[in-house]
Amino acid sequence: STASTAVVAQDEYKALQDIQSSGELKVCFDAGYMPFEMKAKNGEFIGFDIDLGKQMARAMGVKYVPVNTAWDGIIPTLLTGKCHVIMGGMTITAQRNMQVLFADPYIEIGQSILLNPKVAGEVKSYRDLNDAKYTVVTKLGTTGEGAIKRSMPKATVNLFETQTDAVLEVTNGKADAFVYDMPYNAVYAAQNEGLVTHLGEAFTYEPLGWAIRQGDTDFLNFLNSYLRQIKGDGTYERIYNKWFES
Ligand code: ARG
Repeated sequence: STASTAVVAQDEYKALQDIQSSGELKVCFDAGYMPFEMKAKNGEFIGFDIDLGKQMARAMGVKYVPVNTAWDGIIPTLLTGKCHVIMGGMTITAQRNMQVLFADPYIEIGQSILLNPKVAGEVKSYRDLNDAKYTVVTKLGTTGEGAIKRSMPKATVNLFETQTDAVLEVTNGKADAFVYDMPYNAVYAAQNEGLVTHLGEAFTYEPLGWAIRQGDTDFLNFLNSYLRQIKGDGTYERIYNKWFES
């Protein structure tokens, strides 16, 4: 039947063959997530994930092709073949891991909190936000959303399409707190001194990993070997220091 043919085709898909024959490594990410992927003024994409992807394409001898994708559609975009891999600060979660394969974590982070300064005197940890009088915001479909629902279920929650719109609610005083990946919050707090207070203690554990289609264990092996190599030879450290040390 057609259905079983489709299943076989999916199982036999090998990204490495397509990357080699096309000469392109197509990488999905969602720009705006500092310092992993941002759109520079000249329109170019820059950041930690972008540099890792470009370095990987160079090692493969192919061209790096950026595929900027809205977060809520990023897994479908991978699964329908519009990119070979998601390199976009994606947290490895059980739910996502039932849909995609994850390479070993390339960095470990956690959720932290940006507060409007008016509540900074009374909110000292995520536990204090577990109250309907506080409005907590984040980006739709992220682990920030899950963390709010788990760790502060009584809070009033507002979700936004982009992290920029969500965090703006806190700076303009419409929301009390923004829950998001700590590296983003650290950059944002540094760029907006006095406008937000960073509770910079991570309250979740989140390994971030590159995601590919299920069944493609050849590509998975490539990614893990490549990651081991750059972690051992100083390449990873050089790129990391460029984006994380100020
Ligand atoms: N780590 C979080 C998650 O997996 C947020 C990632 C957001 N990434 C992005 N490129 N906008 O849900």
